[in-house]
Amino acid sequence: VRDGNGVKGMVDLGLSTVPKPYVQPPKERIDKQMATRHEGAPIDLSRLDGPDHDEVVKGIVMAAETLGFFQLVNHGVPVDLLESLKDAAHDFFGQPSEKKAVYRKEVSPSPLVKYGTSFVPEKEKALEWKDYINMIYTNDAEALQQWPKECREVALEYLKTSMTMVRRLLEILMGNLGVELDDTKIDGLIGMKMVNMNFYPTCPDPDLTVGVGRHSDMGTLTILLQDGIGGLYVKVAEEIANIGKKGEWVEIPPVPGALVINIGDALQILSNGKYKSAEHRVRTTSTKSRVSVPIFTSPRPSEKIAPLPQVVEKDGMACYREVIFGDYMRNFFGNVHDGKKSLEFAQ
Ligand code: SIN
Ligand code: FE2
Repeated sequence: VRDGNGVKGMVDLGLSTVPKPYVQPPKERIDKQMATRHEGAPIDLSRLDGPDHDEVVKGIVMAAETLGFFQLVNHGVPVDLLESLKDAAHDFFGQPSEKKAVYRKEVSPSPLVKYGTSFVPEKEKALEWKDYINMIYTNDAEALQQWPKECREVALEYLKTSMTMVRRLLEILMGNLGVELDDTKIDGLIGMKMVNMNFYPTCPDPDLTVGVGRHSDMGTLTILLQDGIGGLYVKVAEEIANIGKKGEWVEIPPVPGALVINIGDALQILSNGKYKSAEHRVRTTSTKSRVSVPIFTSPRPSEKIAPLPQVVEKDGMACYREVIFGDYMRNFFGNVHDGKKSLEFAQ
């Protein structure tokens, strides 16, 4: 199970039941029947440049303040690049185990690249049904050559073409808080960027497992490309009209050509809790393997983050303490997925 072949290596050998280390306790299992679908139309980002500008801004701010998740179309990332990214993920994970295992964190030729399975397998009571490769971005072109060649080019293009959209979203979200963005401020918010390729192999019994357990993302904004399989669920923290009641799980359905955007812990902290880093999880499937390709943007590890003074002044108090983001990260990656528990580190 923990020998570097990943869940895929195990599934490829042929499985008719779920191996015990992957069986989730009943309270963590995902009951498909208990969830509704988020049927709201995706936000069309190209409408920002026309008469509907204010309506689009309102839609983005509202989503960030409530569910913490929304979908975008006409986001500026070419739709054929999205297809190539999914293909690249299948190419990478489709390789023989020994080709992938060279990137395991213990042996990886680069600190920027890490291949793994589950989240913190050493600590988890039940493992997640997922393999991934994590690639950290740097301006050092030579170091980037260490990214696996199966996904390097498309992943870099994905990063490059999505940043205009990320900046516009941040301008909108920060503007709404009364914060003007300049290059230094943007760098403080998204000085670190990583691309993941996630692979969820078919599972003999999706009712017993999770692809990813309940968690929130640690960073500023996550940009997620999901394929057509589905299975991404978000928890409604407080009742939202037309979306769900408190505690309900809503599925973020695959929309062709769309990208899913979600708020991370850093943005929740910076906004003094105004923007919601939502708890989410992924169900496995028995019919076809699923891939997803998130970009995680966050402050750099050396960055100090705290609720922004403009918001604290309005709110009359800060709901979070100042943290060095590197410390926040170490706490996040050192503990198993457990809903929004990661945020307690900043309380
Ligand atoms: C994650 O949130 O970790 C993965 C989301 C997805 O694969 O859809
Ligand atoms: Fe996530």
